[in-house]
Amino acid sequence: MATQLVDRVPARGSLDWDHLHFYVGNAKQAAHFYATAFGFRIVAYAGPETGSPGRASYALVQAGLRFVVTSSLAPSDPIADHVRAHGDGIRDVALRVSDARAAYANAVAAGARGVTEPHEEHDADGHVVLATIATYGDTVHSFVERDAYAGAFMPGFVAVANSPEAPHAPNLRGIDHCVGNVGWDEMDPWVAFYARTFGFSQLVSFDDRDISTQYTALRSKVVSDAEHRVKFPINEPARGLKKSQIEEYLDFYGGPGVQHVAIVTDDIIATVRALRSNGVKFLETPASYYDALAERVGTIDESIATLRDLSILVDRDDRGYMLQIFTKPLQDRPTLFFEIIQRRGSLSFGKGNFKALFVSIEEEQAKRGNL
Ligand code: FE2
Repeated sequence: MATQLVDRVPARGSLDWDHLHFYVGNAKQAAHFYATAFGFRIVAYAGPETGSPGRASYALVQAGLRFVVTSSLAPSDPIADHVRAHGDGIRDVALRVSDARAAYANAVAAGARGVTEPHEEHDADGHVVLATIATYGDTVHSFVERDAYAGAFMPGFVAVANSPEAPHAPNLRGIDHCVGNVGWDEMDPWVAFYARTFGFSQLVSFDDRDISTQYTALRSKVVSDAEHRVKFPINEPARGLKKSQIEEYLDFYGGPGVQHVAIVTDDIIATVRALRSNGVKFLETPASYYDALAERVGTIDESIATLRDLSILVDRDDRGYMLQIFTKPLQDRPTLFFEIIQRRGSLSFGKGNFKALFVSIEEEQAKRGNL
Protein backbone atom coordinates (compact mmCIF):
# COMPACT_ATOMS: atom_id res chain seq x y z
CA MET A 1 0.00 0.00 0.00
CA ALA A 2 2.80 2.40 0.89
CA THR A 3 4.18 2.23 -2.64
CA GLN A 4 1.02 3.89 -3.94
CA LEU A 5 1.83 6.89 -1.77
CA VAL A 6 5.36 7.40 -3.03
CA ASP A 7 4.36 10.38 -5.14
CA ARG A 8 2.74 12.16 -2.20
CA VAL A 9 6.00 13.72 -1.15
CA PRO A 10 5.88 15.95 1.93
CA ALA A 11 6.72 19.61 1.71
CA ARG A 12 8.87 19.23 -1.38
CA GLY A 13 10.87 22.34 -2.16
CA SER A 14 10.29 24.00 1.19
CA LEU A 15 12.52 21.93 3.44
CA ASP A 16 15.43 23.48 5.34
CA TRP A 17 17.45 22.95 8.50
CA ASP A 18 15.72 24.29 11.62
CA HIS A 19 17.79 23.18 14.61
CA LEU A 20 19.79 20.34 16.12
CA HIS A 21 18.61 19.25 19.55
CA PHE A 22 21.28 17.65 21.74
CA TYR A 23 20.41 15.59 24.82
CA VAL A 24 23.35 15.92 27.20
CA GLY A 25 24.34 15.15 30.79
CA ASN A 26 24.90 18.79 31.74
CA ALA A 27 23.23 21.36 29.50
CA LYS A 28 24.63 24.34 31.41
CA GLN A 29 28.19 23.24 30.70
CA ALA A 30 27.46 22.08 27.13
CA ALA A 31 25.94 25.49 26.32
CA HIS A 32 29.03 27.20 27.71
CA PHE A 33 31.27 24.94 25.59
CA TYR A 34 29.41 25.58 22.32
CA ALA A 35 29.40 29.32 23.10
CA THR A 36 33.04 29.78 24.09
CA ALA A 37 34.69 27.17 21.84
CA PHE A 38 32.45 27.32 18.74
CA GLY A 39 31.22 30.92 18.83
CA PHE A 40 27.50 30.40 19.45
CA ARG A 41 25.40 32.90 21.42
CA ILE A 42 23.06 31.55 24.08
CA VAL A 43 19.82 33.32 23.14
CA ALA A 44 17.10 31.56 25.13
CA TYR A 45 16.51 29.27 28.09
CA ALA A 46 13.72 26.95 29.23
CA GLY A 47 13.63 25.29 32.64
CA PRO A 48 11.76 25.12 35.93
CA GLU A 49 11.91 28.94 36.27
CA THR A 50 10.13 29.33 32.93
CA GLY A 51 7.44 26.69 33.36
CA SER A 52 9.37 23.62 32.15
CA PRO A 53 9.85 21.51 35.26
CA GLY A 54 12.18 18.54 35.00
CA ARG A 55 14.52 19.84 32.33
CA ALA A 56 16.93 22.63 31.41
CA SER A 57 17.33 23.72 27.77
CA TYR A 58 19.56 26.38 26.24
CA ALA A 59 19.05 27.61 22.67
CA LEU A 60 22.20 28.74 20.87
CA VAL A 61 22.43 30.68 17.62
CA GLN A 62 25.19 31.58 15.17
CA ALA A 63 24.29 32.97 11.72
CA GLY A 64 22.09 30.25 10.14
CA LEU A 65 22.82 27.66 12.85
CA ARG A 66 20.53 26.83 15.76
CA PHE A 67 21.45 24.32 18.47
CA VAL A 68 19.47 23.37 21.57
CA VAL A 69 21.12 21.50 24.45
CA THR A 70 18.83 19.86 27.01
CA SER A 71 19.41 17.96 30.25
CA SER A 72 16.96 16.15 32.45
CA LEU A 73 16.69 17.18 36.10
CA ALA A 74 15.19 13.78 36.99
CA PRO A 75 16.76 10.35 37.56
CA SER A 76 14.60 8.79 34.86
CA ASP A 77 12.60 10.29 32.03
CA PRO A 78 12.98 10.12 28.24
CA ILE A 79 15.86 12.65 28.28
CA ALA A 80 17.76 10.95 31.13
CA ASP A 81 17.14 7.55 29.56
CA HIS A 82 18.49 8.78 26.21
CA VAL A 83 21.66 10.09 27.86
CA ARG A 84 22.08 6.86 29.84
CA ALA A 85 21.83 4.82 26.63
CA HIS A 86 23.81 7.04 24.27
CA GLY A 87 25.84 9.57 26.24
CA ASP A 88 25.67 13.12 24.91
CA GLY A 89 24.34 13.14 21.36
CA ILE A 90 21.88 14.55 18.86
CA ARG A 91 18.32 13.47 19.54
CA ASP A 92 16.52 15.60 16.96
CA VAL A 93 17.59 16.78 13.52
CA ALA A 94 14.74 19.29 13.23
CA LEU A 95 13.68 20.53 9.81
CA ARG A 96 11.91 23.73 8.94
CA VAL A 97 8.82 23.30 6.78
CA SER A 98 6.06 25.60 5.59
CA ASP A 99 3.32 23.18 6.73
CA ALA A 100 4.21 20.85 9.63
CA ARG A 101 0.81 19.11 9.58
CA ALA A 102 1.17 18.17 5.92
CA ALA A 103 4.82 17.15 6.31
CA TYR A 104 3.90 14.85 9.20
CA ALA A 105 0.80 13.40 7.54
CA ASN A 106 2.64 12.64 4.32
CA ALA A 107 5.69 11.15 6.07
CA VAL A 108 3.49 8.88 8.20
CA ALA A 109 1.40 7.90 5.18
CA ALA A 110 4.65 6.94 3.44
CA GLY A 111 5.63 4.66 6.31
CA ALA A 112 7.42 6.85 8.88
CA ARG A 113 6.65 6.15 12.55
CA GLY A 114 4.97 9.11 14.23
CA VAL A 115 6.46 10.20 17.57
CA THR A 116 4.51 13.38 18.33
CA GLU A 117 1.37 14.40 16.47
CA PRO A 118 1.15 17.92 15.02
CA HIS A 119 0.36 20.50 17.70
CA GLU A 120 0.62 24.26 18.20
CA GLU A 121 2.61 25.99 20.91
CA HIS A 122 1.97 29.65 21.71
CA ASP A 123 3.43 32.52 23.65
CA ALA A 124 3.35 36.31 23.43
CA ASP A 125 5.65 36.20 20.37
CA GLY A 126 3.33 34.05 18.25
CA HIS A 127 2.99 30.36 17.60
CA VAL A 128 4.80 27.41 16.05
CA VAL A 129 3.43 24.11 14.75
CA LEU A 130 5.52 21.06 15.69
CA ALA A 131 5.34 17.38 14.79
CA THR A 132 7.93 14.61 15.11
CA ILE A 133 8.72 11.37 13.30
CA ALA A 134 11.27 8.67 14.10
CA THR A 135 14.36 7.92 12.03
CA TYR A 136 17.42 5.67 12.64
CA GLY A 137 18.10 4.48 16.20
CA ASP A 138 16.52 6.76 18.80
CA THR A 139 17.00 9.78 16.54
CA VAL A 140 13.97 11.81 15.40
CA HIS A 141 13.08 14.54 12.92
CA SER A 142 10.80 17.30 14.12
CA PHE A 143 8.98 19.37 11.52
CA VAL A 144 8.99 23.02 12.60
CA GLU A 145 6.58 25.55 11.12
CA ARG A 146 7.65 28.91 12.50
CA ASP A 147 6.55 31.59 10.03
CA ALA A 148 4.13 32.96 12.66
CA TYR A 149 6.73 33.12 15.45
CA ALA A 150 8.96 36.11 16.29
CA GLY A 151 10.53 35.07 19.60
CA ALA A 152 14.14 34.16 20.39
CA PHE A 153 13.66 30.44 19.76
CA MET A 154 10.33 28.81 20.54
CA PRO A 155 7.39 29.11 22.95
CA GLY A 156 8.43 27.99 26.44
CA PHE A 157 11.83 29.64 26.12
CA VAL A 158 12.71 33.05 27.53
CA ALA A 159 15.31 35.28 25.90
CA VAL A 160 18.74 35.34 27.56
CA ALA A 161 21.13 38.28 27.52
CA ASN A 162 24.85 38.25 28.36
CA SER A 163 25.86 35.01 26.66
CA PRO A 164 29.45 33.92 27.27
CA GLU A 165 31.55 34.76 24.21
CA ALA A 166 34.24 32.92 22.32
CA PRO A 167 37.64 34.66 22.53
CA HIS A 168 37.99 34.28 18.74
CA ALA A 169 34.90 34.37 16.49
CA PRO A 170 34.92 31.39 14.09
CA ASN A 171 32.12 32.83 11.92
CA LEU A 172 30.30 29.57 11.27
CA ARG A 173 27.47 30.07 8.80
CA GLY A 174 25.09 27.11 8.59
CA ILE A 175 24.75 23.34 8.19
CA ASP A 176 26.00 21.64 5.03
CA HIS A 177 25.14 18.03 5.86
CA CYS A 178 24.31 15.79 8.78
CA VAL A 179 25.55 12.19 8.75
CA GLY A 180 23.86 9.14 10.24
CA ASN A 181 25.65 5.92 11.18
CA VAL A 182 23.40 2.87 10.85
CA GLY A 183 23.96 -0.84 11.43
CA TRP A 184 25.21 -3.63 9.18
CA ASP A 185 23.28 -3.75 5.88
CA GLU A 186 20.93 -0.97 7.03
CA MET A 187 22.17 1.78 4.69
CA ASP A 188 19.98 0.92 1.70
CA PRO A 189 16.77 0.61 3.75
CA TRP A 190 17.42 4.08 5.25
CA VAL A 191 18.20 5.56 1.82
CA ALA A 192 14.84 4.12 0.70
CA PHE A 193 13.19 5.60 3.82
CA TYR A 194 14.30 9.13 2.91
CA ALA A 195 13.26 8.64 -0.71
CA ARG A 196 9.81 7.45 0.36
CA THR A 197 9.08 9.80 3.25
CA PHE A 198 10.93 13.00 2.24
CA GLY A 199 11.13 12.62 -1.54
CA PHE A 200 14.94 12.74 -1.33
CA SER A 201 17.09 11.43 -4.12
CA GLN A 202 20.53 9.88 -3.97
CA LEU A 203 23.40 12.24 -4.73
CA VAL A 204 26.47 10.03 -4.43
CA SER A 205 27.61 6.74 -3.03
CA PHE A 206 30.92 5.35 -1.88
CA ASP A 207 31.57 1.68 -1.49
CA ASP A 208 34.21 -0.09 0.50
CA ARG A 209 36.66 0.08 -2.40
CA ASP A 210 36.55 3.88 -2.11
CA ILE A 211 36.47 4.07 1.64
CA SER A 212 38.78 1.55 3.14
CA THR A 213 42.22 1.29 4.55
CA GLN A 214 44.25 -1.78 5.26
CA TYR A 215 42.05 -2.40 8.26
CA THR A 216 38.58 -0.92 8.28
CA ALA A 217 35.89 0.00 5.81
CA LEU A 218 32.48 1.60 5.46
CA ARG A 219 29.88 2.24 2.82
CA SER A 220 28.12 5.58 2.41
CA LYS A 221 25.27 7.01 0.33
CA VAL A 222 24.12 10.63 0.34
CA VAL A 223 20.44 11.56 0.02
CA SER A 224 19.25 15.12 -0.48
CA ASP A 225 16.25 17.30 -1.24
CA ALA A 226 15.97 18.68 -4.77
CA GLU A 227 17.61 22.01 -3.81
CA HIS A 228 20.57 20.28 -2.10
CA ARG A 229 19.86 22.25 1.06
CA VAL A 230 19.30 19.27 3.35
CA LYS A 231 21.84 16.51 2.76
CA PHE A 232 21.95 13.28 4.76
CA PRO A 233 24.87 10.93 4.15
CA ILE A 234 24.10 7.47 5.62
CA ASN A 235 27.04 5.25 6.62
CA GLU A 236 27.09 1.54 7.39
CA PRO A 237 30.08 -0.53 8.48
CA ALA A 238 31.84 -2.79 6.00
CA ARG A 239 34.15 -5.70 6.70
CA GLY A 240 37.85 -5.05 7.09
CA LEU A 241 40.70 -6.75 8.87
CA LYS A 242 39.77 -4.94 12.07
CA LYS A 243 36.81 -3.15 13.55
CA SER A 244 35.23 -0.45 11.34
CA GLN A 245 35.08 3.06 12.81
CA ILE A 246 31.31 2.83 12.24
CA GLU A 247 31.20 -0.23 14.50
CA GLU A 248 33.14 1.65 17.15
CA TYR A 249 30.54 4.41 16.96
CA LEU A 250 27.64 1.92 17.17
CA ASP A 251 29.22 0.23 20.20
CA PHE A 252 29.77 3.47 22.10
CA TYR A 253 26.55 5.21 21.07
CA GLY A 254 24.51 2.08 21.72
CA GLY A 255 23.15 1.87 18.18
CA PRO A 256 22.57 4.11 15.17
CA GLY A 257 22.79 7.88 15.53
CA VAL A 258 24.22 11.11 14.18
CA GLN A 259 27.95 10.68 13.50
CA HIS A 260 28.89 14.18 12.38
CA VAL A 261 27.49 17.54 11.40
CA ALA A 262 29.26 19.49 8.67
CA ILE A 263 29.23 23.24 9.31
CA VAL A 264 29.81 25.77 6.54
CA THR A 265 32.31 28.62 6.66
CA ASP A 266 33.27 31.16 3.99
CA ASP A 267 36.90 31.24 5.17
CA ILE A 268 38.05 27.93 6.55
CA ILE A 269 41.56 29.12 7.35
CA ALA A 270 40.33 31.94 9.57
CA THR A 271 37.66 29.68 11.07
CA VAL A 272 40.06 26.87 11.95
CA ARG A 273 42.59 29.33 13.39
CA ALA A 274 39.84 30.81 15.61
CA LEU A 275 38.53 27.41 16.68
CA ARG A 276 42.04 26.15 17.49
CA SER A 277 42.68 29.32 19.53
CA ASN A 278 39.43 28.63 21.39
CA GLY A 279 40.70 25.15 22.30
CA VAL A 280 38.87 23.00 19.72
CA LYS A 281 40.86 19.86 18.88
CA PHE A 282 40.97 18.53 15.32
CA LEU A 283 42.11 15.27 13.78
CA GLU A 284 45.65 15.63 12.56
CA THR A 285 46.49 14.74 8.98
CA PRO A 286 49.53 12.65 8.04
CA ALA A 287 52.22 15.01 6.69
CA SER A 288 52.57 12.83 3.59
CA TYR A 289 49.04 13.87 2.59
CA TYR A 290 50.30 17.36 1.67
CA ASP A 291 53.22 16.08 -0.41
CA ALA A 292 50.76 14.62 -2.92
CA LEU A 293 48.11 17.33 -2.61
CA ALA A 294 49.05 19.67 -5.48
CA GLU A 295 49.21 16.76 -7.86
CA ARG A 296 45.84 15.43 -6.74
CA VAL A 297 43.77 18.65 -6.65
CA GLY A 298 45.62 21.00 -9.01
CA THR A 299 45.77 24.76 -8.48
CA ILE A 300 43.97 26.15 -5.43
CA ASP A 301 43.85 29.65 -3.92
CA GLU A 302 45.07 28.61 -0.49
CA SER A 303 48.69 28.07 0.51
CA ILE A 304 49.43 24.38 0.94
CA ALA A 305 51.87 25.23 3.74
CA THR A 306 49.04 26.96 5.62
CA LEU A 307 46.68 24.04 5.03
CA ARG A 308 49.38 21.68 6.30
CA ASP A 309 49.91 23.79 9.43
CA LEU A 310 46.18 23.64 10.19
CA SER A 311 45.57 20.03 8.97
CA ILE A 312 42.90 21.17 6.49
CA LEU A 313 42.00 18.64 3.76
CA VAL A 314 41.17 19.39 0.10
CA ASP A 315 39.14 17.48 -2.47
CA ARG A 316 38.13 18.27 -6.03
CA ASP A 317 35.35 17.18 -8.38
CA ASP A 318 34.36 18.34 -11.86
CA ARG A 319 32.65 21.47 -10.47
CA GLY A 320 35.42 22.82 -8.27
CA TYR A 321 37.07 22.01 -4.97
CA MET A 322 36.25 21.97 -1.29
CA LEU A 323 38.20 22.26 1.95
CA GLN A 324 37.29 20.31 5.09
CA ILE A 325 38.55 19.33 8.53
CA PHE A 326 37.14 17.13 11.28
CA THR A 327 37.11 17.79 15.01
CA LYS A 328 37.89 15.13 17.55
CA PRO A 329 34.79 13.73 19.31
CA LEU A 330 32.88 16.45 21.15
CA GLN A 331 32.31 14.30 24.24
CA ASP A 332 34.25 11.55 26.02
CA ARG A 333 32.58 8.77 24.04
CA PRO A 334 34.07 8.46 20.53
CA THR A 335 30.74 9.31 18.91
CA LEU A 336 29.60 12.73 17.61
CA PHE A 337 32.05 15.12 15.94
CA PHE A 338 31.86 18.18 13.67
CA GLU A 339 33.25 18.80 10.21
CA ILE A 340 34.10 22.34 9.09
CA ILE A 341 33.64 22.75 5.34
CA GLN A 342 34.19 25.46 2.75
CA ARG A 343 32.90 24.77 -0.74
CA ARG A 344 34.57 26.37 -3.73
CA GLY A 345 32.16 25.03 -6.33
CA SER A 346 32.51 21.37 -5.45
CA LEU A 347 29.51 19.30 -4.40
CA SER A 348 31.88 16.62 -3.06
CA PHE A 349 31.75 15.13 0.42
CA GLY A 350 35.48 14.50 0.39
CA LYS A 351 35.69 11.05 -1.14
CA GLY A 352 39.32 11.69 -2.07
CA ASN A 353 40.06 12.46 1.55
CA PHE A 354 38.52 9.35 3.06
CA LYS A 355 41.72 7.41 2.85
CA ALA A 356 43.82 10.14 4.45
CA LEU A 357 41.12 10.77 7.00
CA PHE A 358 40.74 7.11 7.88
CA VAL A 359 44.41 6.67 8.48
CA SER A 360 44.15 9.55 10.93
CA ILE A 361 40.93 8.30 12.58
CA GLU A 362 42.42 4.84 12.97
CA GLU A 363 45.46 6.25 14.72
CA GLU A 364 43.07 7.77 17.27
CA GLN A 365 41.01 4.55 17.43
CA ALA A 366 44.18 2.54 18.09
CA LYS A 367 45.13 4.90 20.94
CA ARG A 368 41.76 4.04 22.54
CA GLY A 369 42.45 0.32 22.08
CA ASN A 370 39.40 -0.19 19.84
CA LEU A 371 41.04 -1.05 16.51
FE1 FE2 B 1 30.99 15.04 6.06
